[in-house]
Amino acid sequence: MNSYPKTSALMRRGADFLGSDTAILCGAMSWVSERNLVAAISNGGGFGVIACGAMTPELLDTEIAATNALTDKPFGVNLITMHPDLFDLIAVCARHKVSHVVLAGGLPPKGSIEAIKDTGAKVICFAPTLALGKKLLRSGADALVIEGSEAGGHIGPVSTSVLAQEILPELGRDNLVFVAGGIGNGAMIAAYLEMGAAGVQLGTRFACATESIAHPEFKKAFFRASARNAVASVQLDPRLPVIPVRALENEGTAEFTAKQREVALLLDQGSINMEEAQLRIERFWAGALRRAVIEGDVKSGSLMAGQSVGMVTKEEPAAEIIATLMAECEAALTSRTA
Ligand SMILES: Cc1cc2nc3c(=O)[nH]c(=O)nc-3n(C[C@H](O)[C@H](O)[C@H](O)COP(=O)(O)O)c2cc1C
Repeated sequence: MNSYPKTSALMRRGADFLGSDTAILCGAMSWVSERNLVAAISNGGGFGVIACGAMTPELLDTEIAATNALTDKPFGVNLITMHPDLFDLIAVCARHKVSHVVLAGGLPPKGSIEAIKDTGAKVICFAPTLALGKKLLRSGADALVIEGSEAGGHIGPVSTSVLAQEILPELGRDNLVFVAGGIGNGAMIAAYLEMGAAGVQLGTRFACATESIAHPEFKKAFFRASARNAVASVQLDPRLPVIPVRALENEGTAEFTAKQREVALLLDQGSINMEEAQLRIERFWAGALRRAVIEGDVKSGSLMAGQSVGMVTKEEPAAEIIATLMAECEAALTSRTA
């Protein structure tokens, strides 16, 4: 018997699209969303997504094969649009018959949506505004994620609640729109589903799951933190192509300021161009996140986390987190009709 009839009814089209039991995605988290967490999420009734990040095609090939060995449920692969080997990575996904590809980190380059669809996979894109959401759907995106500034990692300028009000009434009923950013409790999921979301995407809430390979010190930092500790990075120089990143404040926050100064100076000297400046800044984040997640350097590594971090209080299996969220959502929906 389905223990979450109201939630399941509202999640049906999202879950059918994903091929999962629930319409809860675990958003790709670089270094965290590898085979173990991705398989645990999908086996637990959610939809796991591998974070390709800066992986080479060979590494992605290995990661997909290893994930396939741990689950027979569907999962997705998140590709960063600025990756220099984007089309080779798409080919790797095609070889493994990956069912869903998420394009993140900027608007998809020409031909990328078509290339993915030609492989038979579904394409999920991030829509930063209503106008761009419509454009992405016209360009062939099968589903959208709208992610507010409460989220962990790279963020846009607008909060989830405002994006949801602007985009769900216009696009939610006739298209598949998943809401991300700041969700830590199922009551919030209920609200977005009622507003027309097909499902939700969470990252922070899953980062410390038992199956997550994140270092114990990284997890401890999450358990100690509250919402106000998850701060957005500050842009030092308006010329720099810096995408803000939300992370727990530590010494790494100051190191990022120093990094920006260094890159701005190189720009002034004319020794690098804007593209190289952005690459250097992104490489800084990738390295700092690796140090925190893998090595447990919580002093100067990057502890990317969203404002929902205060709702992450202990290590729990991914399946239990999903069950808790579903039960909370069901309770919220039931209380409306009681
Ligand atoms: C540690 C961490 C790393 C992340 N890395 C990525 C990434 O590589 N690619 C991406 O598209 N999103 C990334 N995100 C965003 C998540 O996929 C997800 O959309 C976000 O965490 C949802 O908001 P929440 O943190 O409020 O739950 C990351 C988030 C965190 C917390």
